[in-house]
Amino acid sequence: MSKQFDLIVIGAGPGGYIAAIRAAQLGLHVACIDAWKNKQGGPAPGGTCTNVGCIPSKALLQSSEHYEHAGKHFGDHGISLSDLKMDMSKMLGRKDAVVKQNNDGILYLFKKNKVSFFHGHGSFSGKQDGGFEVIVRGPAEESLVAPQVIVATGSTARALPQAPFDEQNIVSNEGALNLAAVPKKLGVIGSGVIGLEMGSVWRRLGAEVTVLEGLPQFLGAADEQIAKEAHKAFTRQGLKIELGVKVGDIQSTKRGVKVAYANAKGESQTLEVDKLIVSIGRVPNTQGLNAEAVGLQLDERGAIAVDAQCRSNVAGIWAVGDVVRGPMLAHKAEEEGVAVAERLAGQHGHVNFNTIPWVIYTSPEIAWVGQTEQQLKAAGRAYKSGTFPFLANGRARALGDTTGMVKMLADDQTDEILGVHIVGPMASELIAECVMAMEFRASSEDIARICHAHPSLSESTKEAALAVDKRTLNF
Ligand code: FAD
Ligand code: NAI
Repeated sequence: MSKQFDLIVIGAGPGGYIAAIRAAQLGLHVACIDAWKNKQGGPAPGGTCTNVGCIPSKALLQSSEHYEHAGKHFGDHGISLSDLKMDMSKMLGRKDAVVKQNNDGILYLFKKNKVSFFHGHGSFSGKQDGGFEVIVRGPAEESLVAPQVIVATGSTARALPQAPFDEQNIVSNEGALNLAAVPKKLGVIGSGVIGLEMGSVWRRLGAEVTVLEGLPQFLGAADEQIAKEAHKAFTRQGLKIELGVKVGDIQSTKRGVKVAYANAKGESQTLEVDKLIVSIGRVPNTQGLNAEAVGLQLDERGAIAVDAQCRSNVAGIWAVGDVVRGPMLAHKAEEEGVAVAERLAGQHGHVNFNTIPWVIYTSPEIAWVGQTEQQLKAAGRAYKSGTFPFLANGRARALGDTTGMVKMLADDQTDEILGVHIVGPMASELIAECVMAMEFRASSEDIARICHAHPSLSESTKEAALAVDKRTLNF
């Protein structure tokens, strides 16, 4: 006997579980299916983000940053320590406990919102009277039917064809979050978001880290000036970043990994490391979904093809998050999930793709929203620019963290803010004000006129806005 619902959500990552909760809040009878298992084989909803992504990486970034501060910066405050040690199993245990709190939190939210949760793998089996049939293969096999389905099956790490992941020596994000000991030498392929965040974690804990990047420029998606500043800071910290390389043969032995590559000058090189993280992007995950059973179309990247409203080619089937086009970010997945749930309830859900913030949680943090200077130039848009360095901010000096700047770009004529780019302390938090300003289509003058608390890092945002009009007060 099939169980009938108004909506079935496949996947309980940030896209899926948030869509399920929002739809249930709006009165729909909702089932959410998720396959992720914890170490005991039990359910672990939250997807990549909670289990092997955003949450555990931020837990390790925090632990490793404390360790680095204790070893390198406490002395500046007159605090001395001797015999500083890192207990690796405690650090990893704490990270696992943070993950579990989030898994349990989602199970609680499902109960609170009356979402029926099914632990297992969901796949389409076809269409019948009540809508689409999805079979769940888990502890038991169940048949669920609903007229509406949201696919939120996320993404998986992309491997290099010559070096499949063994999660021991050649690791994806999963292995990178679980190295039992600090490798003496760590190689990272790809200087994108994961490469920089995980490279920073292991460098802070004592690994000698070399990052090999295929592109000739560093952080191509970021504003060039910000990327340059970040590159300088990471290099100063000891992260070795080689740009413009071509990775060749990769050999994994009992003792480690040998990577053959050509450097930017075309010279043959070999990098020998104990562990290798491969972080060269992610691929949409539709494995085992049996999309063919309902005629669901994929695009050339293997993502589910959807329109701007997340509608697939099959009426009644929607898709959100990493499994569709657009940036692979948890908050983008969530926004799409909410918007689809609201559309299903007859409301006007919306996602503004122009104001999705990006954050890289390294130290210094990097965050941006809107367009970069190079994008504005390429589009031929007349703009004004204002920057303010944290070096001139009182709070940053008191914190002992004056690296970086806030950079604001505004339309030359209307003064509307077109982009804000930050590298420096707490950029992840500072960017929220800028996202809100852009949502309200604020001008740089609007920010410049707002009273910001003193002393705070956010005064740098106000000063960057003043700098657009060439009238900074503290620089
Ligand atoms: P996912 O989170 O991948 O969830 C999909 C879920 O669906 C999974 O639980 C999977 O098991 C389940 N599933 C798949 N197929 C089926 C099926 N057939 N049946 C049942 N269940 C199925 N983003 C940020 O915004 N900020 C960050 O700081 C950040 N850090 C990251 C760090 C790392 C190391 C990584 C790898 C990613 C990070 N991301 C971050 C990206 C973020 O994790 C993803 O964008 C986000 O998880 C996408 O959400 P989703 O719901 O689309 O998919
Ligand atoms: P990425 O797309 O951020 O970076 C991949 C990097 O690898 C790029 O710089 C690319 O040029 C390089 N590359 C690709 N192929 C290569 C090759 N063969 N040799 C050398 N270099 C190569 O992908 P990443 O870091 O794997 O992360 C995946 C996604 O996960 C991110 O794009 C992001 O959407 C998400 N994420 C978000 C985080 C955040 O928001 N803080 C943190 C971590 C991940």
